[in-house]
Order: sequence, then structure tokens, then C-alpha cells
Amino acid sequence: MLIQRGKIELNREDTQYQAGFCMLQAELPDLVNRLHILHEEERNYYDTLRFDKRKHSYLLGRVSAKKAIGALAAYEDLEKIAISSGIFQFPIVKYSVTRNLQVCITHCENLGIAISYPEAHPLGIDIEQTDKANTAVIKEQLTADEQGLLQTVTLPEKVSTTMIWTMKEALSKVLKTGLTMDLKLLEIQSLVKVSDTVFTSQFKHLIQYQAISCLSGSYACSVVIPRKTKADLSPLWDAFEQLVIKAE
Ligand SMILES: CC(C)(COP(=O)(O)OP(=O)(O)OC[C@H]1O[C@@H](n2cnc3c(N)ncnc32)[C@H](O)[C@@H]1OP(=O)(O)O)[C@@H](O)C(=O)NCCC(=O)NCCS
Repeated sequence: MLIQRGKIELNREDTQYQAGFCMLQAELPDLVNRLHILHEEERNYYDTLRFDKRKHSYLLGRVSAKKAIGALAAYEDLEKIAISSGIFQFPIVKYSVTRNLQVCITHCENLGIAISYPEAHPLGIDIEQTDKANTAVIKEQLTADEQGLLQTVTLPEKVSTTMIWTMKEALSKVLKTGLTMDLKLLEIQSLVKVSDTVFTSQFKHLIQYQAISCLSGSYACSVVIPRKTKADLSPLWDAFEQLVIKAE
């Protein structure tokens, strides 16, 4: 089991916020040993789950989300927090003494990642495996302009399409709708290579936001943050790299 936690500074023109993150690589038995971290409400929900796959993803999400809150709020009693779900399945942090912290959760196989953030400053995150992607299905959902952008980066198609998909999923989490919309609304308008592993995009319609993506091994992870926020995501990407090394 690997747990990595950290903080990210979110710099706005006139103010500064912080986000916390936790990345977790764990098998189901590792997480079952930590059931004590669940709030009674979470435990009641967990006890209704029948399939190991969902037990695993639920625990990856809840444990990483609580630890992401712990990364920002050192004195928080994590088992007293309940992370419930809203009507569109978005996570809601309840009973935290550190007011107005929310979380965004993503899980994939035996990896879980969560970001905690002040409600005033929304964030989204998504991880996917690039080698298991259904490239043809993703491409069908892309606009002609987006397909053109894919040609501008020298990445295998599975990697570039999955990366764009994680940007859209992360944005749909910020919007709290998930992908239940006309996906053209999530269209990206640019794709810029920042380094061999990091890419950024702006969105055509949701111009308030930008996506920053990192590739590591056979995984792509995207974070969506407000466009005018300046943030050094290197602590997050360093942890992501370690996580993928452990997973592969
Ligand atoms: C929400 C969605 C983007 C999640 O992406 P994913 O790659 O499937 O799964 P991830 O592991 O990255 O994220 C799952 C987490 O997202 C969060 N989430 C779910 N719905 C959310 C929403 N509407 N807004 C914000 N976050 C949401 C949850 O915390 C969930 O974890 P949990 O169930 O353990 O609490 C996607 O499942 C979705 O759009 N679902 C609704 C529509 C749908 O089912 N479409 C079928 C595919 S087109």
C-alpha cells in the first residue's frame, strides 16, 4: 500500500488558496483494515455494497478523500467526517470542522486520488489507463477541431485521446453533472505541450477553466482549475509518478 499526501498553492491575483491531495495505491484487503476511518454513515453505505470491485473503489475514494482533507486540516478527526453523495453522485463533505472544504475523487483499478479544496475555488481531477482506452468510442465524441488538435502532439492515439477524455471528465466533475450532457460543451480549444509529460488545454465554452494533464506509465491524469489561477502542480505530479511506479 502506498499513500502520498501533499498541498498545492493556488495563487489568484488578489488572494491565495490551498488544495490538499492524497494518492493511494491499495488492494481491497489493505483498505478493509482501515474501515475504522469511515464515519457511521459511510460504514452503513459500505455494508450495503455486494461487489468487491465497488467496495474497492468506494474505499479508495473515501480513504483518499479523508486524507486529502487531512493534508489541509491537520487537526481534523477524519472518522468524524462523512463524505456522502449528492443527487448527481458528486461527493459532499459533511461534519468537517474546517468549514467549506470539498473534495473531488477519482479511482482506477487499485489507485485512488482525491483533491480537497475550499468551496470558493473549485477543482476537478480524473485518472484513466491509457492502454485500456476505447479510442474509437472516445474519438466519436470529439469534434473535428479536437481531432485536429490530436494531430499536433506526437503521442500515440490511445494516449492523446485518453488524456483529452480525462480533461473532460475532470471538468464535468467541477460542473457536478458528470458526462450527462452534450459533450460538445466540454470541447477543448487548445492543446499545448509543456514538457514531455505535461500538457495544458483551455476549453472553448467553459472559458473560466483550464486543464493540466500529466502522463506517467500507462496512466493519464488531468486536473481542472480556474484559468486565472497560478499553481505549481509539481508536488502532485511527483506523487503521481511514484504512484504509477508502485502500480505497474
Ligand atoms: C462522473 C464521471 C465523470 C466519473 O468518471 P469515471 O471515470 O467514471 O470515474 P472516476 O473514478 O474518475 O470518478 C468517480 C468519482 O467521481 C465522483 N462523481 C460522480 N459523479 C459526479 C458528479 N456528477 N460530479 C462530480 N463528481 C462526481 C464520485 O466521487 C465518484 O466516486 P465515488 O462514487 O466513489 O464517490 C462519470 O462516471 C459520469 O459522467 N457518470 C455519469 C454519466 C454516465 O454514467 N455516463 C456513462 C459514460 S458516458
